Amino acid sequence: MNADGRTRLNQTPEWTALAKHREELGDVQLRELFAADSGRGTGYTLRVGDLYVDYSKHLVTDDTLRLLRELAAATDVFGLRDAMFRGERINTTEDRAVLHTALRAPRDAVVEVDGENVVPGVHAVLDKMTEFADRVRSGEWTGHTGKRIRNVVNIGIGGSDLGPAMAYEVLRAYTDRSMTFRFVSNVDGSDLHEAVRDLDPAETLFIVASKTFTTIETVTNATSARGWLLEALGDEAAVAKHFVALSTNAEKVAAFGIDTANMFEFWDWVGGRYSYDSAIGLSLMIAIGPDRFREMLDGFRIVDEHFRTAPAEANVPLLLGLLGIWYGNFHDAQSHAVLPYSHYLSKFTAYLQQLDMESNGKYVDRDGREVEWQTGPVVWGTPGTNGQHAYYQLIHQGTKLIPADFIGFARPVAELSDELKAQHDLLMANFFAQTQALAFGKTPEEVRAEGVPEELVPHKTFRGNHPTTTILAPELTPSVLGQLVALYEHKVFVQGAVWNIDSFDQWGVELGKVLAKRVEPALTEGAEVEGLDASTKALVAAYRELRGR
Ligand code: F6P
Repeated sequence: MNADGRTRLNQTPEWTALAKHREELGDVQLRELFAADSGRGTGYTLRVGDLYVDYSKHLVTDDTLRLLRELAAATDVFGLRDAMFRGERINTTEDRAVLHTALRAPRDAVVEVDGENVVPGVHAVLDKMTEFADRVRSGEWTGHTGKRIRNVVNIGIGGSDLGPAMAYEVLRAYTDRSMTFRFVSNVDGSDLHEAVRDLDPAETLFIVASKTFTTIETVTNATSARGWLLEALGDEAAVAKHFVALSTNAEKVAAFGIDTANMFEFWDWVGGRYSYDSAIGLSLMIAIGPDRFREMLDGFRIVDEHFRTAPAEANVPLLLGLLGIWYGNFHDAQSHAVLPYSHYLSKFTAYLQQLDMESNGKYVDRDGREVEWQTGPVVWGTPGTNGQHAYYQLIHQGTKLIPADFIGFARPVAELSDELKAQHDLLMANFFAQTQALAFGKTPEEVRAEGVPEELVPHKTFRGNHPTTTILAPELTPSVLGQLVALYEHKVFVQGAVWNIDSFDQWGVELGKVLAKRVEPALTEGAEVEGLDASTKALVAAYRELRGR
């Protein structure tokens, strides 16, 4: 039993029914499923906003989908969803509401946390960001010496980096090309070095992004950036014109020396990995402009509304979440690939890694008990077609089941030359060919019919039956990006709800942080550090010897 009196997930009749159904299906073949239903290619599709979602190439039947939806109903996914949208404290281990959806709520919406409507605050910050972004973009906001700001460097890590860095890449075609944007996250000094080495400090704005403003990597990099700036400009007063902060922690921002008038606020009910449509997106807003930023928020909102209101049979995030459960829990799949066929989405999967793996990488359920079922998968992938010439071999002919999402666009971005636009069909031919090959493979008979010598037939046979979702959108716009991100946010939500885990905490990153603080004096001062294990002690000694001091 769960604390709320419900039966534990793997003892529910719905779970057992799925396990039995999985056995009955055995190694059902996609070839058979398509042969049995000529309408599958169009019937197993859904639309949300601009996204056309094809799930026909999954190892599922109508019964599978019905049983999965019954599992979602038994675990009250929609009940938890409604509690999230209502602002209840569903992040129980941190006792916080989970309201990234309020970040894109319309101005007149009412979303209450502890009886207070948070929407006016959201729009006040958006308005403040808009004003600031316009001033920087127009050149009205100048640096300390009066020079125009031409470079923006976002310093943050995790959710305070991945979101804006990813979205900047995705929306490059919409950015102000006369400005330079860089994103520094790594405490490895080479990250900051490479980001600023060719920049003029007098033209550079640093955006220090940190929800807590205590993250050691970010504070260290921000301190070094301030040193770099002051060395060139030689006046403490310069900080006010070259540093702004994005944070929930005004006290720490002030202690760092940034004027809180130059702080853009957000709230504890915005999780780091769900935050780039909050103030954390300021660098992106400067890059693409406030109007485009708001178009992106509109895109998020389309999918929020869909998730909140669409019935289970038509609810795309629900479907994608349940398909992941089908493979992770009933087919022992360990990973999930996200393979975008757009070079602009080169950082998209890295972004999803935090979103998914920090959310659902948990072995303890909401009641503090170890789960007896698999939770979040390893999420990985890079843009096609590069992956095709690297690791797709393993997806096609390896021994592992790797469900994958293929994301593609009907039109290339408008700014490409006609010649480069013409390459788009070739890109998309690969996109369609890959999911076809993965699903249907090539039988030994088909290989033989090509005259392949018998000893090579096994090598050239493709078993196929590799499940994929195809997500197709007309064009990569700010709104479509918002739709895609919201889709994955809610997919992750669905899975966490079914697994009965808290998808909104991240205690698993704490231990490493604490130990790093403990080990550091052993490296910097050669101090004898209590409690180091034998391996770490020897490694520290080897490091010091190799370093030569
Ligand atoms: O990795 C842990 C984490 O807390 C993430 O959840 C968060 O996005 C990141 O660190 C950065 O935190 P902050 O924005 O507080 O600097």
